[in-house]
Amino acid sequence: MIILGIESSCDETSAAAVEDVGGKMLVRSNVVASQVPTHRLYGGVVPEIAGRAHIEAVSRVTYEALDSAGIALSDVDAIAVTSHPGLIGALLVGVNFAKSLAYANGLPLVAVNHVHAHTAAAYLASWQLRAPFLSLVVSGGHTSFYFVKNPTEYVEIGGTRDDAAGEAFDKLGRVLGMPYPAGAEMDKLATEGFMRNDWKSISLPSPAIHGDEPTFSFSGLKTAALNLINSEKQRGEEPDRTAYAAAITHAIVSAVAKKLPYAIAATGCRDMVLAGGVAANSHLRRAVAEVCEKHGVRLTVPPVSLCGDNAAMVAAQGFCEYRAGNFADTHLNASALD
Ligand code: KG4
Ligand code: ZN
Repeated sequence: MIILGIESSCDETSAAAVEDVGGKMLVRSNVVASQVPTHRLYGGVVPEIAGRAHIEAVSRVTYEALDSAGIALSDVDAIAVTSHPGLIGALLVGVNFAKSLAYANGLPLVAVNHVHAHTAAAYLASWQLRAPFLSLVVSGGHTSFYFVKNPTEYVEIGGTRDDAAGEAFDKLGRVLGMPYPAGAEMDKLATEGFMRNDWKSISLPSPAIHGDEPTFSFSGLKTAALNLINSEKQRGEEPDRTAYAAAITHAIVSAVAKKLPYAIAATGCRDMVLAGGVAANSHLRRAVAEVCEKHGVRLTVPPVSLCGDNAAMVAAQGFCEYRAGNFADTHLNASALD
């Protein structure tokens, strides 16, 4: 059985063919057309431009995904599409394209939550993974802990009260002069910075909210770092990007490491997934692995290629919804909200 996944919630147009072979999900193709070079000119995603770029790309990307999987539309058994959350103008492109394709070809349609799809990328990395498990999704829009009761039931048990970790990486990277999105460059610079000691003299507030709830606030960190960087610039000094990258990364990663044990205790899970674009961060991966090892929790992290937005993860969650009998019809609408 093959599911065609379609993703257009933000700045990546993606289509993928994923096959279920005896309960194991196999990625046959995963084509991602990134709009990053376009949005980079503006320092962030411009929703109107994103919507238009999805319209231009969605059909080509879908047929490329079928071609590179070596299949035709007639080999597809269902279509899964991201319907929420995300940029509404961007989501509508994928949803309407998927609805038309499903209707015209008499195929079942499955609506997928983008944040759940990030978690489902873990099924593509580990065929042993079974719910219930704990999931931490860290992306440009989310930093949330979920108790995944079963493959289609996600209960949010904590997370950020304001900005997401990815947003903090991107905004702070931007004032440090890095192109959008800054996450990967911050990761590399932090590795250099940790080899020196001067980052420790940059004092930043912890995003871990006081108490034993698995909750964060990244806006305080963002404001504090912005003030430090801007006052250095006003004094005519050049902020040390390497030291800042290390200090910011340390603040974010150590807050996650501090709160993770509370999430593990709250769910009692012995399995955990780390997912989302920021799960590509080498320092975060290492810190979460260390906490999991200490608590006897088995960790699954998708490969970096499946951490950022892609349609294979949408198809993976699509399989879960399909198996649970959760189908959509031509009335399916997109929604910006969770
Ligand atoms: O999941 P994603 O592709 O899109 C959303 O659903 O938001 O996540 C994008 C985020 C961006 O903020 C980007 O800077 C961040 O993931 N990111 C990273 C790394 N690679 C991507 N953040 C930190 N370290 C990385 N290596
Ligand atoms: Zn995403």
